[in-house]
Amino acid sequence: MTTLDTRPLTDTLTSLTGLTGLTGTAHDELALDAYAQELLFRSARTANTFSDEPVSDEQVRAIYDLVKWAPTAMNTQPLRVVLVRTPAARERLVSHLADGNKAKTAAAPLVAILAADTGFHEHLDELLPYVENAKARFADDEAREKVARFNATLQAGYFLLGIRAAGLAAGPMGGFDAAGVDADFFADGRLKSFLVVNIGRPGEDAWMNRLPRLEHDDVVTVL
Ligand SMILES: Cc1cc2nc3c(=O)[nH]c(=O)nc-3n(C[C@H](O)[C@H](O)[C@H](O)COP(=O)(O)O)c2cc1C
Repeated sequence: MTTLDTRPLTDTLTSLTGLTGLTGTAHDELALDAYAQELLFRSARTANTFSDEPVSDEQVRAIYDLVKWAPTAMNTQPLRVVLVRTPAARERLVSHLADGNKAKTAAAPLVAILAADTGFHEHLDELLPYVENAKARFADDEAREKVARFNATLQAGYFLLGIRAAGLAAGPMGGFDAAGVDADFFADGRLKSFLVVNIGRPGEDAWMNRLPRLEHDDVVTVL
C-alpha cells in the first residue's frame, strides 16, 4: 500500500466526490492509477439528487463503447438500455416506481431502463459465429430468460462503472413495478426490465450516509 500525497484532483473528481486531494491509500498491486481508482470505486457514490446539467447522447455512446466489452456467457450480450428522455415517457416510468424513488427519477437529467432481452439468441449467428446454430441451444424459454437476466445483470454492473468513467454519477434503483414497466414499455414481452438508473452530475445533498462494506477476510476464502 502507498500513502498518497495530497495532490489536486481533477475538477470532475472534486465535483463528484467533494474531495480536494487524495489522502487515502492505493494498492501498489493495482495497475489502475490512483485517480481512476477514486473515480470508479473508492469515492464513487450512488447519487440521490442531480444538477440540471444535461447528459448527452454522445456521452451515452462513449459510455456504451466501454460497457460493450463486458464478458457474457457465449457472448450473448442480452442487456438492452432504454433512455427515457421525453416528459411523457418519464411520467409513465415514474408512475411505476416505489414512492421513495419517484422524485429523484422525475428530476434526473437522464434516466435509463435496463432490461434483459429474452430474444438474445436471435443474434447468435452474428455474435457467436464459430458455433453452428447456437440459437437452437436456447430453445427453452425459461432457461433462456435465466441466461438473459443473469448476463444482463452482469452487464449492468459495467454500465454503472461506465457512467462513473464519464465523470457522472449513477443512481441504480430496483424499487419499481417491473411487471408494470414491462407491460407499459415492452408490450411484446421480449424485454424484461430489472433496473432503473438515474444519471447525471450530483446535486445538493446527493449522498446518503456511506454504509459499511464487508472486508476481504469476510468475503474471500482460500481453499
Ligand atoms: C440493484 C440495486 C437496487 C437499488 N435500489 C434502490 C432503490 O430502489 N432506491 C434507492 O433509493 N436506492 C437503491 N439502490 C441504491 C443503493 O442503496 C446504494 O447503491 C448503496 O446503498 C450504495 O451506496 P453508495 O454507492 O453511496 O455507497 C439500489 C442499488 C442497486 C445496486
